[in-house]
Amino acid sequence: MRIAMVGAGYVGLVSGACFAEFGTDVCIVDTDASKIEALRGGRIPIYEPGLDKLVEENARDGRLTFTTDLEEAVRGADAVFLAVGTPTRRGDGHADLTYVYAAAEQVAKAASNPLVLVTKSTVPVGTGQQVLEIVRKARPGLAITVASNPEFLREGSAIGDFMRPDRVVIGVEEGEAGERSLAVLKRLYRPLNLIEVPILATRIETAELIKYAANAFLAVKITFINEIADLCEKVGADVHDVARGMGLDGRIGRKFLHAGPGYGGSCFPKDTLALARTAQDQGAPVKLVETTIAVNDARKAQMAERVIAACGGSVAGKTIAVFGLTFKPETDDMRDAPSLVVVPRLVEAGATVRAFDPQGTAMARPMLPGAVHYARSALDAAEGADALVLLTEWNEFRALAPKRLRAAMRGDVLLDLRNVYDPEAMRAAGFRYQSIGRP
Ligand code: UDX
Repeated sequence: MRIAMVGAGYVGLVSGACFAEFGTDVCIVDTDASKIEALRGGRIPIYEPGLDKLVEENARDGRLTFTTDLEEAVRGADAVFLAVGTPTRRGDGHADLTYVYAAAEQVAKAASNPLVLVTKSTVPVGTGQQVLEIVRKARPGLAITVASNPEFLREGSAIGDFMRPDRVVIGVEEGEAGERSLAVLKRLYRPLNLIEVPILATRIETAELIKYAANAFLAVKITFINEIADLCEKVGADVHDVARGMGLDGRIGRKFLHAGPGYGGSCFPKDTLALARTAQDQGAPVKLVETTIAVNDARKAQMAERVIAACGGSVAGKTIAVFGLTFKPETDDMRDAPSLVVVPRLVEAGATVRAFDPQGTAMARPMLPGAVHYARSALDAAEGADALVLLTEWNEFRALAPKRLRAAMRGDVLLDLRNVYDPEAMRAAGFRYQSIGRP
């Protein structure tokens, strides 16, 4: 089997490298020549645990190649995956499909043989049909079929998620065209049969909606526990135990019930917004999701106010250490991270911010106010600080000795917005410790 992956972004790189690991010949194509040049030289433009090794090994064995030449990539391919970006369109919150449609047309024009054109990027319901029309128009004579195969990768554990997914969702056309697409995709995912991964074959529209519905549901789940955490604080309950007690009910499940400063990342904020817009346009609004979006946005702003309140109502002239800037650990991704709301607000309120992130500094720098200082280590950030705010739960923050941390600081305020520390231990070390939803 031979496939092309259009787009060397997060999804394209991880999926491409993993398909190569499955034994398929994969050619990743991107218009960004410097990116392709870097990849050919073994340099990975993103931080994702294990990806560098996977790319290196498969490139060395000749199964994984990189090019800027779409025609070369598509020639002889059994399937071409579209993994180009679908950012939020300015103004209306819809997903911007310019790249998807342009890539679909280019692939159709470049195709030398019948192939399956698979959309992997997260696209609104109805995009598959549009892609089909574009392809039919561009190459009426060639048997190109269209499919939807959404990805459910989490940043930081993307390779494990690809190799051992909970399910594979494949949306295909009706009839014989659909059968052909399905046969090709099932062959590509064959290694997953060994570990009995369910393959859900369905209509294209359904596959497209599954992705949005799953992400929106998870966003609702997180937002629900965040609100319950706020209530816990008022009534003296412990959100940790509430989440555990709820999650042990198999119908609810334990995952994604970790209270925090609000969800961020490249998917949840963008996908919830796109789903809400599509649903409004279709006259079937998803009010629960609309509310989730508003509650989550407000939460990030509230977190900054919480820091200010913990510092006695003002942070002017104070030094605040910030642990973690990325939207979650094990990534350098800053997209929609709570830090993008919290840090500027603290700077604006007159604080000096000393931040440390194990991987995110380079990405954070252009996105945060110029006045932010970037420390070389967690302890360096804490040095002389009046207050410490933990925003992202990197493991190395858990490992810090509380007494040493306290000794490095001038003040004693510790705001743990991810509940990583033990309240008793932190109080014993002399901190005025606050977390989310715990007494
Ligand atoms: C998510 C989905 O999990 C994945 O299936 C989809 O393909 C892409 O979007 P990702 O954005 O990488 O993946 O991160 P995820 O681990 O899901 O976390 C998203 C956000 O929710 C983060 O900001 C995280 O801190 C937050 N979160 C997650 C919580 O606040 N509490 C939780 O219990 C879980």
